[in-house]
Amino acid sequence: MGAAAMLISPPCSGPADPIPLHDKEGRVFTVRPLLPEDREALEGFYADFEPKRAAQGLPPEGGPRVRRWLDNVLRSGTHLAVLDAGRLVGHAMLIPTEREHVSEYAIFLHQDVRGRGLGTEINRRSAEIARTMAVDRLWLSVEPHNRPAVRSYEKAGFRFRPGTIYSPEVEMEMDLHDTAA
Ligand SMILES: CC(C)(COP(=O)(O)OP(=O)(O)OC[C@H]1O[C@@H](n2cnc3c(N)ncnc32)[C@H](O)[C@@H]1OP(=O)(O)O)[C@@H](O)C(=O)NCCC(=O)NCCS
Repeated sequence: MGAAAMLISPPCSGPADPIPLHDKEGRVFTVRPLLPEDREALEGFYADFEPKRAAQGLPPEGGPRVRRWLDNVLRSGTHLAVLDAGRLVGHAMLIPTEREHVSEYAIFLHQDVRGRGLGTEINRRSAEIARTMAVDRLWLSVEPHNRPAVRSYEKAGFRFRPGTIYSPEVEMEMDLHDTAA
């Protein structure tokens, strides 16, 4: 994700209530706004996260780098915590960009909970949350070989941006007002 795209948005923007989510086997997870008191758990989540630097060099490797990265990304946007019986197992973020009403989207799930449909569900919910804010479009960049990411984004309604398909990092977007998405 592009660090240059970070801008400040009101800290109160975003969903208020926890949202229950089910994986493909019916196990219940919760998505809720990330709270300041989650910071230690979030650092622990990224310390455990494997493989490090899996997605465009993120998450960074090592406590100091993770802390610097979090200081940067948490400064703006809407951040969601994914919980499994109280344990923080995921972090999704909607970060304002320099393009008006366009937010950058990124998601990181703990390796223990991948591949069971959760990422796709969270992408869908994040889009719904963005729709309730003054966001018209979501944008992201992803390495095309990251098949679970690309597939989960496509299933949630993201589409490739023309002209980026053969790049080392493809760009995807979702028009939040396109009912066909
Ligand atoms: C990317 C990520 C959020 C996806 O979430 P997930 O819960 O693992 O994904 P889902 O279970 O929803 O699966 C999405 C789709 O990808 C498919 N998929 C998984 N692995 C695949 C592979 N190697 N090749 C092709 N498709 C694959 C799944 O089958 C599923 O499609 P289906 O439901 O039609 O079968 C998660 O894997 C993750 O956090 N990865 C590490 C961090 C990362 O890469 N983040 C993205 C930053 S750009």
